[in-house]
Amino acid sequence: METIHRVFVGDSRDLSAVADDSVELVVTSPPYPMIEMWDDLFADLDPAVGDALESGDGRVAFEAMHAQLDRVWDELERVLVDGGIACINVGDATRSIDDSFRVYPNHARVLEAFESRGFDPLPDVLWRKPTNSAAKFMGSGTLPPNAYVTLEHEYVLVFRNGKESRSFEPRADRRYEAAYFWEERNRWFTDVWTDVRGELQTLEFEGSEELRERSAAYPFEIPYRLICMYSAYGDTVLDPFWGTGTTTLAAMCAGRGSVGYELEEAFLEAFDRQIDDVPGISRSIGRARLEAHRSFVEEYRAEGSTLEYDAEYYDTSVVTKMERSIRLREVESIETVADGYRVEHEPLSDGDE
Ligand SMILES: C[S@@+](CC[C@H](N)C(=O)[O-])C[C@H]1O[C@@H](n2cnc3c(N)ncnc32)[C@H](O)[C@@H]1O
Repeated sequence: METIHRVFVGDSRDLSAVADDSVELVVTSPPYPMIEMWDDLFADLDPAVGDALESGDGRVAFEAMHAQLDRVWDELERVLVDGGIACINVGDATRSIDDSFRVYPNHARVLEAFESRGFDPLPDVLWRKPTNSAAKFMGSGTLPPNAYVTLEHEYVLVFRNGKESRSFEPRADRRYEAAYFWEERNRWFTDVWTDVRGELQTLEFEGSEELRERSAAYPFEIPYRLICMYSAYGDTVLDPFWGTGTTTLAAMCAGRGSVGYELEEAFLEAFDRQIDDVPGISRSIGRARLEAHRSFVEEYRAEGSTLEYDAEYYDTSVVTKMERSIRLREVESIETVADGYRVEHEPLSDGDE
């Protein structure tokens, strides 16, 4: 199986290189309005943002920043197929402007923007960021009533483009082979994720930590899970705020194609320097999933439960009928092509070779 991954250095308020109805899933994390690290970026996109911040008008700045994101959401409605899913990772911002502290509810504003564009909201996920607990309450003291709760969660807002779900031909292999294990389903479809850090590998190189901080990269598990949950093999995943390319890496590992837009060329260059690591990463992720499944099977049996079915492609049992056809993918080879990469995928074998 072959997938194509295109990455453009450019402004995603105009996605004209992406055809109408050509993307099955969006997974992205925009710059969060009213988080200081993104002030300059938003002010470059619209000078009114800088003016509002300077004059101390937080509400106007918040709205002007979201107006820039709205232009990207307009494009998503066009490029996403009917029934396609958009997963938007966003956190709220707390900030003092002119000595007045408040929360700027980015998730609520993004939700409103999608609904007004004809997307239907689906149940969302909260994921809990591990934070440095020693420092987190500093300054809030222990006197009522003027301390504030520390925000330690972000949202993955989930929307469907239009009213109807996508349909597939009966018994479509690319859907059935992309099934996930029952115990993965139980973890992934829980609405609070507390286990997303460091579970799976990502691209690592000298300076990668600094680069990931500068782009506020999300952990690999976030896009990887969402891609496995909401798309089938061979689908195309769009990330209009590509950053260090975590979504594309996850799409490659998960046997999906991708397309990304990013303003900063340096991020694309860094991704390209590590591209040879992707086959090894994809294989270790597939192997880790199989291994975790086998441990689950052992524990499940040790508790006295019976597994009714055998997997077709792996020497293991599974809980449900639908899991029998699971066939994980690994990246066999990657070739650089115009605007991106062509990736050859093979089914992940069962052995240790
Ligand atoms: C929160 S970061 C995304 C991080 C990414 N998920 C990762 O794992 O590295 C947002 C990214 O969007 C980019 N960006 C912001 N506005 C953009 C725009 N209008 N067009 C394209 N890229 C944009 C920023 O440069 C930044 O890298």
